Amino acid sequence: MKTTTVNLGNRSYDILIGENLLESVADYISPILKRPRTVIVTDDNVAKHQLSRIESNLDNSNIQYDTITLPAGEATKSLSMLENLLNQLLTLRLERNDTIIAFGGGVIGDLVGFAASIYLRGIDFIQIPTTLLAQVDSSVGGKTGINSDFGKNLIGAFHQPRLVLIDVTTLETLDPRHVVAGYAEVVKYGLINDPAFFNWLEVNGSALIAGDRELRIEAIKRSCDAKAAVVADDEKEKGARALLNLGHTFGHALEAENGYNDDLFHGEAVAMGMIMAFELSKRLGLCSQGDCDRIIKHFAGVGAPKAKQFDFEVAKLLHHMKGDKKMDDGKLTFVITRGIGEAFLSNDIDMNDVQAVFQDALKG
Ligand code: GLY
Repeated sequence: MKTTTVNLGNRSYDILIGENLLESVADYISPILKRPRTVIVTDDNVAKHQLSRIESNLDNSNIQYDTITLPAGEATKSLSMLENLLNQLLTLRLERNDTIIAFGGGVIGDLVGFAASIYLRGIDFIQIPTTLLAQVDSSVGGKTGINSDFGKNLIGAFHQPRLVLIDVTTLETLDPRHVVAGYAEVVKYGLINDPAFFNWLEVNGSALIAGDRELRIEAIKRSCDAKAAVVADDEKEKGARALLNLGHTFGHALEAENGYNDDLFHGEAVAMGMIMAFELSKRLGLCSQGDCDRIIKHFAGVGAPKAKQFDFEVAKLLHHMKGDKKMDDGKLTFVITRGIGEAFLSNDIDMNDVQAVFQDALKG
């Protein structure tokens, strides 16, 4: 098992990464619990494939637990489901010294973390992420929240978990498309500031996606190390944490235009968005054609979809982009780059260049 620590003073926490950790979950969570009582919140997909692994172990421990199962899917990250969840927690009379476990992908982690941040004015929670995207990104760093009719993640709070427990074997029941989508967020860490990691992914990415557990553990560890360092430095995204949004300003516009449908997952949109961020940087004379080509080749090699496969309209994409929550004083902050591993922030981008990048990407 590998361990990474997110250093946040008295709110610091460990990320434990390994295989078959679920079968010993009680051993890992017991030191964290203020009293031996917890509620596991999961979704019906994860419940079907993975829940019995946790419950069998807790049944043989002194930890008393209840389980709440919510519908799987992005629609669960809603105000009505938050109310439903809070009512179920109140009905179970969960107390201040009890702990909630978020057991699922990004939807469950974000919703449950937000519920934990406001239930009885805030109680402890543990993340047990079951998708690659949640394991390398959303379960770490304390961003929690729900969607609204006005956009994704617009209502939420920073609330750090007390522990993140990552069992890579949960990825083995995941739709392979979700693995590739989560892998985009792994690649992101190489592209931001770790060119050696990108080189490593060029060699090992396909085997990792195909299911090699050791490679998965190594990639998740390196991703969590990178994320932990950024979060420790800039927890509330006053500056450098925004680098983690590489590809997201473009990607969010694609997702919004697609109506957040399952024919374009968040990670797939981020993969396209990162290519666009590199294309924009090339257009601005910052980044080489060679680096753009390497990224395009890498994502094609692992089977990520391409923007030109979708029927997007540039004007609509630009409109969505202007509604991004990262807008600051009327200006959008873009993550652009001088090359692989050399990303930086700029809020001085001419939207005509962005338009040209969209146009080129859509005709492919
Ligand atoms: N997913 C980006 C962040 O946590 O800041």
